[in-house]
Amino acid sequence: MTDDAEKRLAAEAAAELVEAGMTVGLGTGSTVAHLLPALARRGLNGIRCVATSVATEDQARELGIPVEEFSALERLEIAIDGADQVNPDGWLIKGGGAAHLREKIVAAAAERFVVISDSSKPVEALSVPVPLELFAFGLRSTLARLGANVELRDAPRSPDDGVIADYRGEIGDPAALAARLEADPGVAAHGLFPPEMVSEVIVGRGSSAETMDLGAR
Ligand code: 5RP
Repeated sequence: MTDDAEKRLAAEAAAELVEAGMTVGLGTGSTVAHLLPALARRGLNGIRCVATSVATEDQARELGIPVEEFSALERLEIAIDGADQVNPDGWLIKGGGAAHLREKIVAAAAERFVVISDSSKPVEALSVPVPLELFAFGLRSTLARLGANVELRDAPRSPDDGVIADYRGEIGDPAALAARLEADPGVAAHGLFPPEMVSEVIVGRGSSAETMDLGAR
């Protein structure tokens, strides 16, 4: 099985969790690209979706999945998204596709946040890079504070005008690093998602999809 086939298996299993009438957050990336057709095929009535990127919004609309502005909804019943890495405690690194700010806002709004991945994403220990989104205002001073471990990424500004960068220093304790990054007013978002945010992780492995045991958290 290729990684892509494993992504599809995880995505199809997650699509089964959505029910008619639900409010749904749609993530971003190549795994979510398999979720959208699987969701469209279900033909569920009355679902209301928000998208975490223009690419997802465009693909969803092409498939006939209704997408609305996130300003129209207060809570989401479910959000489904990919990840770059998942550690045994359930910490994620996200943002390989630079959508981590909107992805985190959507995940935080969701009663159930379901992560979908192929079998390469679960790791024993998280490793850099940790994606960042920085405010453009005062960028030079933000970079000076963050130090040499942060590099700007050759990527377009985010839909919220944020500058995409990557932290490449030590990770150590992810909670401590997350707190350090959040303490800087120039950091709009970082790609560390805490276990409290994650309801479950569905991993495509070989020819089936399994739910990862996050028992350590
Ligand atoms: C985008 C993300 C993606 O979910 C993450 O990069 C995984 O992508 P893919 O499903 O293509 O492997 O966080 O910002």
